[in-house]
Amino acid sequence: MSEHILVERDGGLLTLRLNRPDKMNALTRDMYNRMGDALDAADGDSSVRVVLITGGAECFTSGNDVADFLQAPPTSLDSPVFHFMRALFEFSKPVVAAVAGPAVGIGTTLLLHCDLVYVARDTKLKMPFVNLGLCPEFGSSLILPRLLGQARAAELLLLGESFNGQQAADWGIASGVLEDGPSTLAKAREMARRFLELAPSAIADSKRLMRTPGREELRKVIEEEGALFGQRLKSPEALEALSAFMQRRKPDFSRFA
Ligand code: COA
Repeated sequence: MSEHILVERDGGLLTLRLNRPDKMNALTRDMYNRMGDALDAADGDSSVRVVLITGGAECFTSGNDVADFLQAPPTSLDSPVFHFMRALFEFSKPVVAAVAGPAVGIGTTLLLHCDLVYVARDTKLKMPFVNLGLCPEFGSSLILPRLLGQARAAELLLLGESFNGQQAADWGIASGVLEDGPSTLAKAREMARRFLELAPSAIADSKRLMRTPGREELRKVIEEEGALFGQRLKSPEALEALSAFMQRRKPDFSRFA
């Protein structure tokens, strides 16, 4: 439903706000498509100078909607989640994220493709892909070991350990950490608005230069992760984990070799 993503314009600042509070802003196919369409349109609209992505002051997102994972798994590169992530990956203008509350799964992964990221101190970030019988996505298996080192990245990607806003800032995933949700949103907005005063093509050129090294390698990894993720979604391990979430029980992986 389109009301689950609020698209707001304030001069050259476009805000995409996740708005599905009853499901902790879990992302559905509709929501991905709406965000992908909004980013594609904003990239071609010279009056948009910067995009802010937020889930509000309480919750960023609980990640992909688990029911969608079971009913309509993203098994091809045309899937809505790929539409959104491709639009974010290719976006030529600055993207700022304001993160408070849980940022699970793709809610953490997408931050790796934003330019500025502000987080509340007690934000809980987590990529529980293995815990769901899945694997990392959208370049995180390449980006995180490079950013954090293998040992720390393994805690996040092989154990699915959570980390807080302060750690995200200390490790270079976030640009800054704020006391709470409202101050995080205010800071992210303030920093996003700074782009409105600056020369747009100098920013676009600089962003492209910063993102070009290793880009082809990253594209290949994203494709490989995507193919494996799609296969894993149909695996007995993932079906056990996803059904366990829906049934509010712990998954039982003991029967798997
Ligand atoms: N997909 C679908 N529904 C989700 C969801 C998701 N990713 N995350 C939360 N929800 C739903 C819950 O089922 C619950 O729905 P209900 O009220 O109809 O029963 C509602 O949102 C509230 O979630 P709840 O778990 O009760 O809130 P909480 O505050 O105790 O915990 C989280 C919040 C984010 C820590 C927890 O919901 C969670 O771990 N979610 C799953 C995260 C996940 O595995 N995402 C996929 C990553 S690939």
